[in-house]
Amino acid sequence: MALFKKRIKEENEVKHKQHENKKTSKSSLSTGGKNKHNVQNIQKNIEKVKNPDVATKKKAPVKILTGIKGFDVLFKEGIPDGSSVILEGGPGSGKTLFCLNLTHNMCLSGKKVLYMSFEEPAHRLMEHMDDFGWDAEKFVDKGLLKIQRFNALDISRSVEALLSEAKKELLIEVQPMIFPKDFKPDVVVIDSLTSISSAFSGEESRFRIYMEQLFRYLEKTNITSFLIREVSIPTHTGQTYSEPGSAVSFLSDGIIVIYNVAYPDGHRGMAVEVLKMRGEEITKKIVPANIMADEGFVVYPDKVLEKGFILT
Ligand SMILES: Nc1ncnc2c1ncn2[C@@H]1O[C@H](COP(=O)(O)OP(=O)(O)O)[C@@H](O)[C@H]1O
Ligand SMILES: [Mg+2]
Repeated sequence: MALFKKRIKEENEVKHKQHENKKTSKSSLSTGGKNKHNVQNIQKNIEKVKNPDVATKKKAPVKILTGIKGFDVLFKEGIPDGSSVILEGGPGSGKTLFCLNLTHNMCLSGKKVLYMSFEEPAHRLMEHMDDFGWDAEKFVDKGLLKIQRFNALDISRSVEALLSEAKKELLIEVQPMIFPKDFKPDVVVIDSLTSISSAFSGEESRFRIYMEQLFRYLEKTNITSFLIREVSIPTHTGQTYSEPGSAVSFLSDGIIVIYNVAYPDGHRGMAVEVLKMRGEEITKKIVPANIMADEGFVVYPDKVLEKGFILT
């Protein structure tokens, strides 16, 4: 029995020693880790002092491509992710089609797109996509696409209600767009700001306040947005105009213009220009474009407009 007790004692002593050894090796490891970390920090700090850029250098923004044929080469890299881009043009110039084309391409690359229509009903937009062979339903089923129709009057009414509460001044920061709760988009298309502005008829200053809030909200959420704006006189023509909503140009990060083009012999064409894109080098050129039944929106970056063209 005494022998048995002695064995147990010996075994316990061995276990205790092993445990102590483990502890020291562990703590030496962690001290080693800490030292290593400290050395790295010191090296980083020396680098910062030697080269202050290291301290302030931000991650380069991700650039996104529209996938629209011939269009992306107008950018050095692409549209900075999270930008708010206005797409303006005259009636029937192809603004909706450009955005539906872009929507299809974004969904193809796995991005989630919310198409907010204040004009045509959702089923009509899906039909337009189908006409070009862009399977909108497939993307809806995959959870990548949501096309929803909204009523611009609902927006102006809710702004009006907030104005009354705040004694006719919009003091409270509101969420200016009600995005569907169950859908977190990477890209949002708003078709169109012009429809929203018409619901604010005669209240240009309220629309401007609303737009400021909308752009601030889009910036905060970091969603890339394409906002359609119908204009009767495109910006490029240089004519002064004070159409409703013209104040939004300086709020946006980018402006893309689609022109209706008229030629002296009476035939018409289309043209496209990237007028502005914050944080990106762009080709400053008005280039011909077309809508092709089998390809969608096509831009010809290497072609020039025919002689005698008039931008309308
Ligand atoms: N299936 C189609 N095939 C060829 N062109 C089309 C097709 N559908 C629409 N279009 C062209 O697109 C134009 C309308 O574009 P749309 O994007 O609705 O204009 P906007 O939104 O600028 O008012 C039409 O005038 C027509 O020329
Ligand atoms: Mg349209």
